[in-house]
Amino acid sequence: MRVGEAAIAHYLTLSRVARLVRIPRAMLQRMAQDGVLATFDGQMELSEVLRVFPDIALDDDTEIRRVEEIKAAAVNKTPAAQELPDAETLAARLKSLSRDYARAKVSSDHSDMAQGWLLERIAAMREEGRMPAAAADELAGFLRREFVLNAEDRARRERLIAEESRLRIMSATVTLLPKGRTFDIDGRETILEAGLRAGLPLAYGCSNGNCGDCKARVVSGEAVKVKPHDHVFTREDKADNVILTCAYGAIGDLTLETGSPGVGDIPVQDVTAKVRGVDQLGPGVLALHLMTARSERLRFLAGQRVIASIGELSAELPVASCPCEERRIELHVRGDDAFARAAAALKPNAEVKINGPHGTFVLDDESTAPVLLIAIGAGFAPIKSLMQHALALEQAPTIALLRQADASGPYQQNLTRSYAESLDHFFCRPVDGDWDAALADIAQMTGALAGQSVFAAGPAEALAAAKAKLLAAGMAEAAWKEEAVG
Ligand code: FES
Repeated sequence: MRVGEAAIAHYLTLSRVARLVRIPRAMLQRMAQDGVLATFDGQMELSEVLRVFPDIALDDDTEIRRVEEIKAAAVNKTPAAQELPDAETLAARLKSLSRDYARAKVSSDHSDMAQGWLLERIAAMREEGRMPAAAADELAGFLRREFVLNAEDRARRERLIAEESRLRIMSATVTLLPKGRTFDIDGRETILEAGLRAGLPLAYGCSNGNCGDCKARVVSGEAVKVKPHDHVFTREDKADNVILTCAYGAIGDLTLETGSPGVGDIPVQDVTAKVRGVDQLGPGVLALHLMTARSERLRFLAGQRVIASIGELSAELPVASCPCEERRIELHVRGDDAFARAAAALKPNAEVKINGPHGTFVLDDESTAPVLLIAIGAGFAPIKSLMQHALALEQAPTIALLRQADASGPYQQNLTRSYAESLDHFFCRPVDGDWDAALADIAQMTGALAGQSVFAAGPAEALAAAKAKLLAAGMAEAAWKEEAVG
């Protein structure tokens, strides 16, 4: 560190660094664990960012926008980053930035003056014979060299600070205690919307300001009401700085204390969804696109199942969409039984009853291990949900998909292809019967199988055969999680 840098140390949250350098936060965390980069309290100093990522191209955000658009399109959303925060939030963020600017300006002016005073003092002491000339010259030269950043360093620091400031105006970082998970809140999103988009299992109920199930305590920072709510806070709530995550956004970086429900904490719900469309995905398989009412959002975790009912007919199906898609639910219906025929005949706005969620085939939201997903035939539905959840969570340093298609073919390939093309940490490999070759390829792309969390879904017999292959290739038995589908 150069003289003078301590005075202008500038810390950035890891999620902001991830956005600036365009790599998943999981990769940064892995680099910190490996000692490749230094973090302090979950943050990185600006000089460290520039040291580790000397080639960061701040002027060209074409690629990041492309990736954001691909990810948003995959979950049928407009990229939130394109939306501006509301006027009150914008004004508050600009005020906070102005305060930071004023502090930095005062500090920088003082530093410049102090440098001048020091040089004058050294010159005077040299003149008066109180300091040997050689020592005075060396000290003055050292100060001139070290106080002044070269033009290139200065330009890089300025660009990084400018880009980080832009991100601070457009978004805020929310940290959830006690687990310390962070996510960004963009545009006019509520904390709940942004948290679910980031794949976090937040506690909530009605999602529209009535039940109070989404209460959280503000530990630091300032929350702002962005949606009206009918829930009335008690005197204790007010004293404890309690807010509703479904109705509040963040003015600046915010730390909240809140519950994080596990798979056993989510109640089985009965909701009515409406049909948005029915797509034929391949021979004998169709996608049922549903939307729940604003006041009846289905709470579930990626990888879980629901019982869908059309009139008197019911089927238990894995959900193929991710909770980060908010009210949208996608189900894959296979075969030619009475339920499949009824699903194929559904018209837009027809009602489908949903009961769920069921099952425990879910990601461990605290794991930072690489994720290997295995989809065999109909198993693609829950695996697709897990894949999108793992991408939203940004915790796994690599996410790989091994896919073995059945007679229905490898449908929805565009989605996985666009991920593989745009995300450095996502890999996709078809399995055309030769599991040994596929596993060798995946190990080459993502590292040894021994350290991976494996999630496999498909027909029971095919799962048993795949599991035997993975165990032989070095997978730890405890790392295997499976869901029989089809
Ligand atoms: S989820 Fe019901 S009040 Fe927020």
